[in-house]
Amino acid sequence: MLEIKNLNVWYGAIHAVHDISMSIARGEIVTLIGANGAGKSSTIRAIAGLVKGAKGQVTWTGKDGRPVQLLGRPPEYMVKLGISLSPEGRRILPQLTVEENLMLGAYIRSDKDGIQADIEYCYRLFPRLKERRGQKGGTLSGGEQQMLAVARALMSHPDLLMLDEPSLGLAPILVEEVFATISEINREGRTILLVEQNAYAALRIARKAYVLETGAITLQGTGAELLENPKVKEAYLGG
Ligand SMILES: Nc1ncnc2c1ncn2[C@@H]1O[C@H](COP(=O)(O)OP(=O)(O)OP(=O)(O)O)[C@@H](O)[C@H]1O
Ligand SMILES: [Mg+2]
Repeated sequence: MLEIKNLNVWYGAIHAVHDISMSIARGEIVTLIGANGAGKSSTIRAIAGLVKGAKGQVTWTGKDGRPVQLLGRPPEYMVKLGISLSPEGRRILPQLTVEENLMLGAYIRSDKDGIQADIEYCYRLFPRLKERRGQKGGTLSGGEQQMLAVARALMSHPDLLMLDEPSLGLAPILVEEVFATISEINREGRTILLVEQNAYAALRIARKAYVLETGAITLQGTGAELLENPKVKEAYLGG
């Protein structure tokens, strides 16, 4: 579904992502783990069309089976294809209500019934958001804002949902809840690319995983393999 070959990201003279290659098959959860500054967000943002200095091949094959090159296309084009990103750091609109934020995630759609059904779907996944549907985004707790960011990304009804550190700053109990929800979203047919620093939780739900270190992929395998890998254990799982 998504094939990344020799992706490089430059910010001026800074070479943030070095020649990485990854593949994501339809229906999979794939995770990209790595420390602060490893290049995780740069990778996922490049795929979403948000980084100007990205070079390489990112090939998307949609349901019609026709491959298209993504690099150099605007973010709206990605959304139309069925690719959606929940960005790092709770980028919701603080002045708008929960429901208005969700509606914004559906901005490219015009199927009113479908949008309403997806709002209900988000409220089923995150009952907390339903209780607070009329509350301003900025007054939600950090964890609730995180849930809203994930829910909003779902509102474009994506085939591929990309999540940038959905567990960032959450209490352990909420981390579990969010990861269970990610698994559920996947079971209902969506492919997921999950960027995480919480390696343990991410590897447990991922079919396939890549480890990124200073911009390069240093290890890859199934989630189960990497959970048992001594290097991963030492560097990311606390020994
Ligand atoms: N807009 C930018 N301009 C210049 N350098 C940038 C920019 N964005 C990211 N970088 C640099 O690129 C490198 C990779 O950053 P990136 O945000 O991709 O890392 P990350 O793996 O997502 O880290 P974190 O876990 O802290 O979010 C870092 O050294 C960062 O300083
Ligand atoms: Mg990041």
